[in-house]
Amino acid sequence: MRVLGIESSCDETGVALYDGENGGLLAHALHTQMAMHAEYGGVVPELASRDHVRRLIPLVREVMQKAELQLSDIDAIAYTQGPGLAGALLVGATFAESLAWSLEKPVIPVHHLEGHLLSPLLSSPALFPFVALLVSGGHTQLMSVEAVGHYQLLGDTLDDAAGEAFDKSAKLLGLGYPGGPELAKLAEMSKLNTLNEKDKKDSTCPRLPRPMMKSGDLNFSFSGLKTAVLNQVQLWPDELHEEERQQYRSNLAWAVQEAIADILVEKSARALRQTGLKRLVVAGGVGANRRLRQRLLEQIEKRGVEVYYPKLEFCTDNGAMIALTGWLKWKADPQVLRSAGAFSVKPRWPMSVCS
Ligand code: KG4
Ligand code: ZN
Repeated sequence: MRVLGIESSCDETGVALYDGENGGLLAHALHTQMAMHAEYGGVVPELASRDHVRRLIPLVREVMQKAELQLSDIDAIAYTQGPGLAGALLVGATFAESLAWSLEKPVIPVHHLEGHLLSPLLSSPALFPFVALLVSGGHTQLMSVEAVGHYQLLGDTLDDAAGEAFDKSAKLLGLGYPGGPELAKLAEMSKLNTLNEKDKKDSTCPRLPRPMMKSGDLNFSFSGLKTAVLNQVQLWPDELHEEERQQYRSNLAWAVQEAIADILVEKSARALRQTGLKRLVVAGGVGANRRLRQRLLEQIEKRGVEVYYPKLEFCTDNGAMIALTGWLKWKADPQVLRSAGAFSVKPRWPMSVCS
């Protein structure tokens, strides 16, 4: 069964075609609106919706051409029903439902986070059961995943998400949008990368808190980190040469990345101990962070746990994970297919009720 996937929940328009029985991911195409929103320092919802309208038809054409198939060869259309920006979701949902209706094919509405959660299955199809660390711009969750549709929430953030902590800290450091990758790049320039642990303690390494790291449960809190970053920035001397300023900035970026990685690694290790599971799947945009990957390798993989990531291009939002999730949901339960027609979107949609 060939499933066309449509993603439009935020600032990426993604389209893909997936057939689990015959070739897996047949084709995919993506347009990111990053450059358009960068000017404003964040996503402008109305601009996002309008851009999805412009991009969807060309992207579907591109995918069908790459797959060398006709629209009539599609068996079902999966689309992101939520959570996300209401207008952006409505564009994707309206498009998917209309196309399915005109082709007389069924639809499969998909939860965006379920898409992220299952995205590593694009390259490793036999992963269940596993612990999932879902770290995106809006969510930070740990889940126990037994099979498609069988998810147990182990821990959640009480305030900001990990991606949000990256983005807000980046803003305080004067970096552009999206902040996570920019902050990671700046952190790589820090001299602290080359110091050993003792020298780091003696040096001008900025000290940042690790909120709730030792709370004993699997919940997260990141809003205190942002305040601590602000306090650090305010401590910088007024008169700084350009080179010194760069050093302060890169050292603080390094410290932010270390603090976030420390918390995510510690809680993931706890979740693995608690569930007794031996596989960890890291999904969502923050999963692209190289330092986080290195720390997971050192502290988790080397202790006998297998750690899986989606390919880098599928860490952030994309259509492939939505097409895959539609296909997996159909495979697990053919009843998920719905006739195209009346529909709604769910801008706020807790993951715990998506199955
Ligand atoms: O999953 P995603 O593309 O969109 C949401 O559903 O939120 O995640 C976006 C988040 C943003 O906060 C972005 O700054 C962060 O992922 N991100 C990163 C990196 N790449 C993306 N954070 C840290 N390091 C990265 N390399
Ligand atoms: Zn996402």
